[in-house]
Amino acid sequence: FAVISDSTSCLFRLLLLAELLIHSSCQSTLSCSMFGSMIHQVDKLLNSSKRLHNLTKEELVKFAAVEHRLSSLPHIQHTVGDFNSLKVNESLSQLYSHTLSFRVHVDWLKTAKENVSLPIQSAETTSTQLQQLFRLANTSLHQIREEVPQTTSPSLPEVSLAFDALKFSVEISDRLQAFCHWSKRALRRLQRQSRCPGR
Ligand SMILES: *[C@@H]1O[C@H](CO)[C@@H](O)[C@H](O)[C@H]1NC(C)=O
Ligand SMILES: *[C@@H]1O[C@H](CO)[C@@H](O)[C@H](O)[C@H]1NC(C)=O
Ligand SMILES: *[C@@H]1O[C@H](CO)[C@@H](O)[C@H](O)[C@H]1NC(C)=O
Ligand SMILES: *[C@@H]1O[C@H](CO)[C@@H](O)[C@H](O)[C@H]1NC(C)=O
Ligand SMILES: *[C@@H]1O[C@H](CO)[C@@H](O)[C@H](O)[C@H]1NC(C)=O
Repeated sequence: FAVISDSTSCLFRLLLLAELLIHSSCQSTLSCSMFGSMIHQVDKLLNSSKRLHNLTKEELVKFAAVEHRLSSLPHIQHTVGDFNSLKVNESLSQLYSHTLSFRVHVDWLKTAKENVSLPIQSAETTSTQLQQLFRLANTSLHQIREEVPQTTSPSLPEVSLAFDALKFSVEISDRLQAFCHWSKRALRRLQRQSRCPGR
């Protein structure tokens, strides 16, 4: 009896240990294909965010001098050092909340443009791309069993002039492009950190 129960409990402990190892490795890793999908999606978003306004270089100069007012827009500030200490959980949480915030702003911009009779197609496309990136970030957070961050809705002004709608398009486009550049760099680095076959 003693022999049997000893080996049984030993086996049981081994099983527990194996399960723990599997569990912990699932917790901390994200599949390489997921990084690839997100980088691809960021490229598409970057492309559409450049088209959020349709202004020539000469016209843009007029807007460069205008004061920027959308304080709720995510502002990406980073240093080279930040890229050296990236953590998957923190970067994905940032990707999640910033993507959601940009989407709220772009949907608002779409209504603003509609109200002043500007074309809205670019805002619609950008909103769709943001939603797809948001879905990927959300799925990734679930895959690494990280809680999704809490987010709050910003309060955004009413827009009654086409000039203001254009001004906000320029501001959102610039910030979104900066966000895309940050995301791409961060995702590439995390991809390398996870020893994924890189490009
Ligand atoms: C960027 O978007 C335009 C218009 O939607 C599309 O024609 C073009 O192929 C896109 N470029 C890339 C690199 O995705
Ligand atoms: C961009 O502006 C040009 C000239 O104003 C116009 O011909 C073109 O249709 C516009 N494109 C979009 C996508 O709004
Ligand atoms: C992210 O994971 C690291 C360990 O890899 C941990 O130290 C840190 O607290 C986590 N951050 C968050 C926001 O969960
Ligand atoms: C995030 O993903 C989880 C699991 O896939 C899903 O249940 C949830 O509805 C998603 N949340 C959002 C806001 O899309
Ligand atoms: C667009 O117009 C509607 C109806 O007048 C108004 O309620 C809404 O606040 C306007 N949106 C923006 C962004 O100006």
